[in-house]
Amino acid sequence: MPTAPLPQFPADFRWGVSTSAYQIEGAVGADGRGASIWDTFAHSPGRIADGSTGDVACDHYHRHREDIGLLAGLGVTAYRFSVAWPRVQPTGAGPAHPTGLDFYDRLVDDLLAHEIDPVATLYHWDLPQPLEDAGGWLARDTAARFAAYADLVAARLGDRVTLWITLNEPFVHMSLGYGTGEHAPGRTLLFDAFPAAHHQLLGHGLAVAALRARSGSPIAIANNYSPVRTLGGTDADRTAAAAYEALHNRLFTDPLLGRGYPDGTAGDPSVVRDGDLAVIAAPLDVLGVNYYNPTGVRAPQEGSPLPFELVPLDGYPRTAFDWPVAPDGLHELLGWLHRTYGAALPPVEITESGCAYDDVPDADGRVHDPERVAYLDGHLRAVRAALDDGVDVRGYFVWSLLDNWEWAEGFTKRFGLVHVDYRTQSRTPKSSYAWLRDVIAAARRQSAR
Ligand code: FCB
Repeated sequence: MPTAPLPQFPADFRWGVSTSAYQIEGAVGADGRGASIWDTFAHSPGRIADGSTGDVACDHYHRHREDIGLLAGLGVTAYRFSVAWPRVQPTGAGPAHPTGLDFYDRLVDDLLAHEIDPVATLYHWDLPQPLEDAGGWLARDTAARFAAYADLVAARLGDRVTLWITLNEPFVHMSLGYGTGEHAPGRTLLFDAFPAAHHQLLGHGLAVAALRARSGSPIAIANNYSPVRTLGGTDADRTAAAAYEALHNRLFTDPLLGRGYPDGTAGDPSVVRDGDLAVIAAPLDVLGVNYYNPTGVRAPQEGSPLPFELVPLDGYPRTAFDWPVAPDGLHELLGWLHRTYGAALPPVEITESGCAYDDVPDADGRVHDPERVAYLDGHLRAVRAALDDGVDVRGYFVWSLLDNWEWAEGFTKRFGLVHVDYRTQSRTPKSSYAWLRDVIAAARRQSAR
């Protein structure tokens, strides 16, 4: 366990945790919710490691009061949740379904009653199934549908949501959902998935305009970033690393910050129409950074369909997901963003950071997770180091409050500060919860001085 106290953070630094709708809510048939691509995908045999679905997940839809109690006990100043599009528009179109919005309305009020800032993500991968049937994000119309949905949510919650996040990790959604098929909707288009990138970005830009018209709150997008480590010293290795960097880190950042698509990433030119890049580059108030690990890259083998090969990085401890624990990567990444985008980079918030371990209750029912404490300690120090370098980082959200349904991994990966027994739905704060509670309390005491 780390013993040295963490260095001081700025007085207004935001301390938060993140979740997403399909991973925690369950209640998929409640109150008129429509089906999403994840309902379809999870119910397709062979897609999910343990054959599970998000039908019940953490049953948060029915237990949100208890979960808000956990947030209050942790002392966070912000909570990042996502709104399930199929609760608001069960078919992906038409007027708002009021009962679906009621849930988020109550959630937001309960958070505010506990002095917790509501940070709402509009899209964390749960596209209404009827929109997938019409082409999903490969169809340009989905961008317009997304903006219409954003308008409905903002009309109801725009007076109280503190920070909007349009999309969660469009890179991961494009690459795993449309490129390799490990995520919903399960398409395997490889580089022909580019329209799913462009239409998500266009949807983001149109949604920014819709949100601005309804709400004075700042707007962000939450991108997944992974600093690229070049393995091997040949020109071919460096070219491969640059190609991966463009795809993972720049494809969803350059156009947002007014630079258009990086060379070699824009596919079919007919997809990008006149005026689209200006819509996408609508001013952003915050860049959300989701960071888990760096990526090792080298030149591809002969005959590979990809212009790079991804290689595991040696020399780091590993999580239960087999991801390297590399806080230095977060420091490096924040420096890279700062150097690469300069004055165009808006203030940054770390909108996800966390780790999976095989946490099990001991004989007394306690869950001891010293690895997670070490992980968070290291990553918070990395943020502090980036602040010292002059990067404007405004907050840190841990993924995740609860153990939850981890997409293609089902219930096999536990990311929570709070352990969930999926049989009984009983919640047990882990030792990392107590540690973070003390860290936040100390930081808030310091800033109150
Ligand atoms: C991110 C996702 C989040 C969760 C974590 C572990 O890519 O945004 O929903 O799955 O990874």
